[in-house]
Amino acid sequence: MLIKRKRGWELPESAATPEAVFWNRRQVLAATGFGLALAGVGGTLLGRSAALADDAPEIDPSASRYPVPQNTKYTLDRPITPEDIATKYNNYYEFGSNKTIWKDAQELPIRPWTVEIAGQVEQPMTIAIDDLLGKMPLEERLYRHRCVEAWSIAVPYSGFPLKALVDLARPLGSAKYLVMTTFKNPDVAPGQRQFWYPWPYVEGLTMAEATNELAFIATGYYGKPIPKQNGAPLRLAVPWKYGFKHVKGIVRFSFEENRPKSFWEELVPEEYGFWANINPEVPHRRWSQASERVLGLDEMRPTLPYNGYAEFVAGLYTGLEESEKLFM
Ligand code: MTE
Repeated sequence: MLIKRKRGWELPESAATPEAVFWNRRQVLAATGFGLALAGVGGTLLGRSAALADDAPEIDPSASRYPVPQNTKYTLDRPITPEDIATKYNNYYEFGSNKTIWKDAQELPIRPWTVEIAGQVEQPMTIAIDDLLGKMPLEERLYRHRCVEAWSIAVPYSGFPLKALVDLARPLGSAKYLVMTTFKNPDVAPGQRQFWYPWPYVEGLTMAEATNELAFIATGYYGKPIPKQNGAPLRLAVPWKYGFKHVKGIVRFSFEENRPKSFWEELVPEEYGFWANINPEVPHRRWSQASERVLGLDEMRPTLPYNGYAEFVAGLYTGLEESEKLFM
C-alpha cells in the first residue's frame, strides 16, 4: 500500500509548478532597507500585518543576525541557484507531497521554538532557538545539494557547524549516533494528518559524521533567516548525502547508542537506507543516479562521488564497504 503511493519526489518535471516570480515581502523590505529596522523595532509585533499580502511571511526575530561572514573554504563549481527557485521548489512532506509547499509551510509557527538536547549527554537541556543562535558561531557556506530524485541546487546557507552543537551537548562515550527529529504539529502541517507516514520525520548520523567539518546546521539562506519551506528555524545540511537526510524543522537532537531508523527507511527500506551517501555508480532501484538536473540552469551534469565532497568525507567509511550499504 505504502509503496504504491506515488511520492512527490517522483513527480515528472512537467508536474512541477513553474518557478514563477512572486511577491516576496522580505526581499522587498531588505531592498528598501526596512528589513532590519522593522526587525529591530518589534517586527514580531507586526506579525501578519493586515496591510500586507496574506501569503507574506512574518518577520523572523533572528533577521538582524544576517548576513554572516562567508567561510570561503567551501566553494562551488557552478553558479548559485536563483533564490526564487531554491525557495519555491521544495520537498517537505509535512506540508504535502508536491514541490509547491512553500505557501502552506508559512503556517508553521517558528517562535517560540524550543530545541531539546537529550539522550547520552552530560547534561540534557532545552534551549530557546534564539539563545542557541546566540551561542553558536554563525557563518555562511556555499554548498551543493543533490536530491535523490536527481535534481540539484547550489545555495548559500548560513548557520553553524554541527560539531559546535555536539560540543555544547557534551555527549557521553556511549553516544554512537546523533538522531535529529522534526516538529510534530498536525494542526498546521496537513501531511502529518496522513497516518500512513511514520511521523515525526527522523534522521540520524554517526558521531563521526556529525562531527565532520562539513556537517552543518542551516539557520539562514541567501543571507537571511532560512525560510520555513527550507526548514526554519534549524535544518541539517550534509552535502555529501542525498537530500532526504537533510532533516528540516528540528526540535530535538538526541545522542543515542543505537542506530535510528529514519523516516524514509521505515517506509521503504529497500530504497532509502541509513547512509545515503551520493554515488553516481549506484542507481536508485527505479532510476539512475549518474547525472543530475541542475535547477535554474536547465542542464544535466554528471553526479560526482560524495557529491564532490570526497576529500572531506570518504575517509569516514574506510573499512565499512563490505558490511554496510553505504550508498543508499
Ligand atoms: N525534512 C522534513 N522534515 N520533511 C521532508 O519531507 N524532505 C527532504 C529534506 N528534508 C524533508 C526534509 C528532502 S527529500 C529534500 S531533497 C530536502 O529536504 C529538500 O530541501 P529544500 O526543499 O530546502 O531544497
